Amino acid sequence: MGSMRTQVAIVGAGPAGLVLSYLLARLDIDCIVLEHRDRAYVEQRVRAGVLEQGTVDLLHEIGAGERLAREGLVHHGIYIQYDGQRHHIPMSELAGGRAITVYGQQEVVKDLISTSPKGGGWIIFEAGQVAVHDIESEQPKVTYRHNGEQHELQCDFIAGCDGFHGVCREAIPRDVLRVYEKVYPFGWLGILAHTAPSSDELIYSCHQRGFALLSMRSPQVSRLYLQCAPDENIEEWPDERIWGELHARLELEDGWTLKEGPIFEKGVTAMRSFVAEPMQYGQLFLAGDAAHVVPATGAKGMNLAVADVRVMSEALSAWYTEGRRDMLDAYSATCLRRVWRAQHFSYWMTSLLHRLSDDPFQQQLQLSELRYVTTSRAAATALSENYVGLASV
Ligand code: APR
Ligand code: PHB
Repeated sequence: MGSMRTQVAIVGAGPAGLVLSYLLARLDIDCIVLEHRDRAYVEQRVRAGVLEQGTVDLLHEIGAGERLAREGLVHHGIYIQYDGQRHHIPMSELAGGRAITVYGQQEVVKDLISTSPKGGGWIIFEAGQVAVHDIESEQPKVTYRHNGEQHELQCDFIAGCDGFHGVCREAIPRDVLRVYEKVYPFGWLGILAHTAPSSDELIYSCHQRGFALLSMRSPQVSRLYLQCAPDENIEEWPDERIWGELHARLELEDGWTLKEGPIFEKGVTAMRSFVAEPMQYGQLFLAGDAAHVVPATGAKGMNLAVADVRVMSEALSAWYTEGRRDMLDAYSATCLRRVWRAQHFSYWMTSLLHRLSDDPFQQQLQLSELRYVTTSRAAATALSENYVGLASV
């Protein structure tokens, strides 16, 4: 059995684990990332693509922002559409000049892996049977299998960055962990297509037939979503049916049309709100989807993951340089303030834009809220400052 030692063992090479590894490297804190998938899988997994200003700034700070600066699409507004009309929300103007950047999460992950100081050498891909041990002691460890051999990684801290289906959250005793959850009665069918985006900015459309979203990845690639059943069978959605539904939910009578192109990726994502608290137990610290999931409508998932690990790295720095434990102890409470703000915003955006039920009372409330957001500067400001990301929460 191989045995190794590091200061922080990071489980999971998604945005949370990878950004954390960079932040720790800058602080001269030693870490190793254990990822159970292979590199190609992690780099190709299609996810969301909206970065808050704070996330962009952090990626620049850690030296992983070069391609992002070249290829990221900076957006200063969004469109909200309902009742046959499209309304523009000038987010930057309403939110102190801040903007969002559209750039795929898998591109962020690729950049982080390829430009990492050791060329990705601190990431162990295809680590099987990852398990965490002794998290209540000061010498926790992580065991895993790699290349057919059993390994043990001793460490001071374990960062559980292993996503919603990971193993780290499960290591927190059941009587300590409190879970809040809401599962929505719909999902999103998402596609990537080789066609120039039909709009300069994102269009969120609330339609009788269900929600639709026009997004993009580059000047040549469009990203589009349709509200669907949570267990929708993608086999029942040939390309023509997808385009037909997108035309119906996004087009207006003013002559604007949606451009089609070859679809090269499709998938169904469930919609969920989830929070586990505390995010810390003993020497185990959870970050990102391992601790919380938001429905994609508010575009907050990756941004929350990055915000968590920034807090974690600052707390670890205070511990290693000054022997202070207070920031580590406050980790969960500090993160959860932002998490719950994002939970509320994501729930609100989801309820604002989806077809929720056939209840006419509910539909009138929704319509009234849509009118308010698109006509009141105060309401549009509240949307905008949450969407671009709040500096403090
Ligand atoms: N052992 C090792 N690695 C694991 C394990 C395990 N048992 N379980 C999961 N992983 C890996 C996954 O393969 C994945 O690469 O952990 C990583 C978790 O990454 P993400 O799911 O991307 O989560 P996170 O880094 O928190 O980023 C959150 O991802 O799901 C989106 O919308 C979400 O944008 C948000 C972002
Ligand atoms: C995306 O481009 O994937 C995207 C954009 C905005 C959202 C969610 C997803 O609200």
